[in-house]
Amino acid sequence: MCGIIGILTKNDDVVPQIMNGLKLLEYRGYDSAGLAVLDEDGQLERRRASGKISALAEKISADPVSGKVGIGHTRWATHGPATEMNAHPLATSKVAVVHNGIIENFQEIKQDLLAQGCEFESQTDSEVAAKLMHKYLHEGMSPEEATMAVLGRLEGAFSLAFLFADRPDLLIGARRGSPLAVGWGKELMCLGSDALAVGPLSAKIAYLDDDDWVVLTNEDAIIRTSSGKAVRRASTPVDPNFQVNLGKSGYRHFMLKEMHEQPQVVGDTLSTLLEGKEGRLRLPELPFELEKASRLNIVSCGTSYYASLVGKYWIENLAQMPVDTDLASEFRYRRPVLDPNGISLFISQSGETADTLAALRHCKSRNQRLLSLVNVKDSSLAREADGTLLTMAGPEFGVASTKAFTAQLTMLAALAVTLGAKRGLISEPEQFRLVRLLMEIPAHMAEILTKAPVIEAISKNVIAPARDVLYLGRGQNYPLALEGALKLKELSYIHAEGYAAGEIKHGPIALVDETVPVVVLAPSDSLFPKIMSNLEVVRARGGQVIFMGDNRGYERLTDEPTAKIILSQVDPFVTPLIFALPVQLLAYYAAVFKGTDVDQPRNLAKSVTVE
Ligand code: G6P
Repeated sequence: MCGIIGILTKNDDVVPQIMNGLKLLEYRGYDSAGLAVLDEDGQLERRRASGKISALAEKISADPVSGKVGIGHTRWATHGPATEMNAHPLATSKVAVVHNGIIENFQEIKQDLLAQGCEFESQTDSEVAAKLMHKYLHEGMSPEEATMAVLGRLEGAFSLAFLFADRPDLLIGARRGSPLAVGWGKELMCLGSDALAVGPLSAKIAYLDDDDWVVLTNEDAIIRTSSGKAVRRASTPVDPNFQVNLGKSGYRHFMLKEMHEQPQVVGDTLSTLLEGKEGRLRLPELPFELEKASRLNIVSCGTSYYASLVGKYWIENLAQMPVDTDLASEFRYRRPVLDPNGISLFISQSGETADTLAALRHCKSRNQRLLSLVNVKDSSLAREADGTLLTMAGPEFGVASTKAFTAQLTMLAALAVTLGAKRGLISEPEQFRLVRLLMEIPAHMAEILTKAPVIEAISKNVIAPARDVLYLGRGQNYPLALEGALKLKELSYIHAEGYAAGEIKHGPIALVDETVPVVVLAPSDSLFPKIMSNLEVVRARGGQVIFMGDNRGYERLTDEPTAKIILSQVDPFVTPLIFALPVQLLAYYAAVFKGTDVDQPRNLAKSVTVE
């Protein structure tokens, strides 16, 4: 994972810009951070710190450094603990390198270099890139020749940026597997892991293709293939008003801000699909007729996977199209049988998750038609798929996904309605009715947000003191139980499990006693009586029931639950969009009471770019 950045200019000190870029990349990892610049004598100067970017900022203010060319890194540790010694840039007297990804053959290269008398200071895989580069430079190669030689030795997935001693006019970047963007700015050239970091500095951006490398000088950036041939990669202009709001707009955490943005985000995503006022939906132009596919194969990770599970219920129900859902990390290794007339859909907030990207490439090699559903327009998944559905969540900084999830659900609901209509299963009036239900969601979400104090009290009194929590749901809200449990685990470090409510009697009921809160997602739909039976089973064992549902359902309860969260009464179709918010809020407040790092929980990263 990790985020990398490199900046080259003639006039300014690049340290503040590198630090700003690292803040924008911190979602990719926050175990340690570092930067390297060339000082006035052309010597490499490094500052590194274990922990977040703020720790690096303190280091720099205690021991300032400046330069007109430099590279920076924020780390999610893979090889070697998050110590300062393992923090990037890794350097020799001739070169410093920052790396995102994993160099899979680093042991072999390291043994080779050790045998030649080379010494290593870190436990990282990345250091071999610096040592190899040093060796080739020492042997008399130019930086460009040495880059090709280094890239020829490395196996695995990586994006790299090299800074060379005595070369204030040069930065070299390379990519295989992990993303790397190049930006042309005003009297400045830069490269970085994504458009968030590079965009604010650039007038235009291009993305390297796999196995490309790029030479940045004060004049230009020349992109080359692995054979050294100069190539042009499509560039896109950056909106001159492009700015990333790194502020929390008065909210205590990014997560809280992003949860409050959900009414807007759902409305924005929907409005990109609406045609006219009646409620007709129009998906973006795709190079294939989605409704004619014999099967939809959805692949994703984490919260995006839970969105895909809801999508399966919706699409099978409304469009009668068979849907398979897979975790990307499992997908390729089970030798999936792909229908030649099927379409594969890859769901990802970032569009960069390594497992999902690998799954897309696997499907490409099997001649599947590829569709991505992403929140980042020029992400790798968007660029490599044949067509893209874009959510309008905007940048999400909280590591735990919230607004991106509800935006994905919105897109999937719209997709299901559109497919149902195109396949002749939904009449026009019914289509308009379903779309109206979706259009009402922002208002319902806004209302749920006003109930935050009720949810906060339940989190404080019932959830935060618990050791284990169960979440139960049925049908299309079963994935919401899974998502609720995931949110609680990752934010508050409380053990939680999501279960299909009907399964509780096949094992999890053994866990239930008076210390275990059981959150029951119970909309008053056709499955309500069934979930009530499951709830009774819990209550009979003394479990603390937290009822989540509407007033009509609440009135049907025979006994008062331990706690209740009463939500708007909505059509069963849209309940997953309604339940998403209270499960997020419940986990958020539990984490706040436990005092964990809500926006950057331990051991996690937002964009997982290693397999
Ligand atoms: C990480 C994040 C999750 C996210 C998952 C998939 O684990 O912490 O919030 O759901 O990656 O990410 P993607 O960008 O592919 O949706």
